[in-house]
Amino acid sequence: MKTVLSSISSKRSKADLFVVGYFEKGKLAKEVSQLEPEFAKQAAAVLSQGRFEGKHNQIFSNFNENSHEASEIVLIGLGQSKNYEPACLRKAVGKIVAVAKERKAAGVRILLDSFAGGKVNLSDAAGIFTEISSLAAYDFDKYKSRKEGKPKKNYPQAIDLLSAQKSQGKTLEKQIQIETAIAEGVLLARDLINEPGNIMNAPELSRRARDLAQRKKISCKILGESELKRLKMGGLLAVNQGATTPPALIILEYGSRFKSKGTVCLVGKGVTFDTGGISIKPAKDMEKMKYDMSGAGAVIATLGVVADLKLPLHVVGLAPTVENNVAANPQRPGDIIRMYNGKSVEVLNTDAEGRLILADALAYTALYKPRAILDIATLTGMCAATFSDKASGILGNDERLIAKVIKAGEQTGERCWQLPLWEAYGDQIKGHHSDLYNIGGAYGGTITAAMFLKEFVPEKTAWAHLDIAGTAWADSVRYDSAKGATGVGVRLFTHLLLNWK
Ligand code: BES
Ligand code: MG
Ligand code: ZN
Repeated sequence: MKTVLSSISSKRSKADLFVVGYFEKGKLAKEVSQLEPEFAKQAAAVLSQGRFEGKHNQIFSNFNENSHEASEIVLIGLGQSKNYEPACLRKAVGKIVAVAKERKAAGVRILLDSFAGGKVNLSDAAGIFTEISSLAAYDFDKYKSRKEGKPKKNYPQAIDLLSAQKSQGKTLEKQIQIETAIAEGVLLARDLINEPGNIMNAPELSRRARDLAQRKKISCKILGESELKRLKMGGLLAVNQGATTPPALIILEYGSRFKSKGTVCLVGKGVTFDTGGISIKPAKDMEKMKYDMSGAGAVIATLGVVADLKLPLHVVGLAPTVENNVAANPQRPGDIIRMYNGKSVEVLNTDAEGRLILADALAYTALYKPRAILDIATLTGMCAATFSDKASGILGNDERLIAKVIKAGEQTGERCWQLPLWEAYGDQIKGHHSDLYNIGGAYGGTITAAMFLKEFVPEKTAWAHLDIAGTAWADSVRYDSAKGATGVGVRLFTHLLLNWK
């Protein structure tokens, strides 16, 4: 998908769809009567007869070969301008893409100025069109067979944003450039996550990370099995015992340590498939567990975006990557393992594996003396049960950091909601023959998982944990996502880092 900005006075050829936004109880954008006088008359009649009111995502469309901008002109309702905010426009763009797909419209022209209003300025609108059109058009169809000689076509293919606001050109171009990079990152994360477990394992994810690092000119270090053994990363090694492919700690590094804003470490859970291990999961929905590397996918993709945007920061992305399986010499419930930071853990449930690999990676960040650590993981089913797909859980040891992440979530639509991390929960994970248990009993599972992680965060370091079990996968088509991986975290992290002080 390509988004370009053009001035209303430019010379242009005809598109397939021309889309105009309309606020309920508002006026038709004045540019419409200049550009498409015939359509403007029709729209006035339709509006006066109350056949189209401009309710959110309501559509009126007209096909006319003689129109100038496109043979089909679409009016889309945006609701009342007093209620209009970024979330409304995101859904409207999703709707526009759905219409373009239905009509097999390759080129879509948008009267951008008609989509600014309420809490959405022109530059927000340009950004949202760029981002959502590309996310909504995405599909993971590389394994679908195709008729020979029939190359696959995705619709829409290009979005042309038409604006009369010449003076804002530079700002809009910048916004389009930023959101193009972010969207590319989200799609990369989705591509990594949607790959099935028979293709995507630690060696494969390592290759993909290395490729990305080469393309984006960032550094990439991959700690393989022997290195992990030498470092005594007991968590990573224990979880991977049941796998037939070797584990990896993938480390991508952007920028230099000497930047004044300090180092930010991003840590993403990379379980390429989670069978549960000996504490095996039920068969129903187990296929979804290929998304148990959504955290790793988000972290790897974010590093690519940060490099594209040339942010003045030092960002290190760590993705501990394993397969939680029962094939080779799996962990037994009750096994006692020793972690990278020296603490011992009784593995009461081999399905609580994410925290074991994150623990080693979190402790390892100490090497980078980070100013902040963010980890992101499909960690607990309980988090999905609590928030459904509407919010990620956030917990941590630093209220200021948490507030920043929550704010970035409000801006991007990747919302987070905080849960408490009170010391009182610590009792639930105290070990019997060890320092810690890896599970905290039947209640408060999202919190006790985070309490466990906290034991491995380097001392005096700001840290926030995101549980994306509910938000990383769309069970059905959404305005901005096909069924499958959502790529949650990329937009959130990038916006956080764009505003990092
Ligand atoms: N990957 C799962 C978390 C998960 C479960 C995400 C269901 C989405 C849907 C994680 O490794 C896991 O299995 N967690 C266990 C922890 C329990 C054993 C304490 C869970 O949530 O059931
Ligand atoms: Mg598990
Ligand atoms: Zn898992």
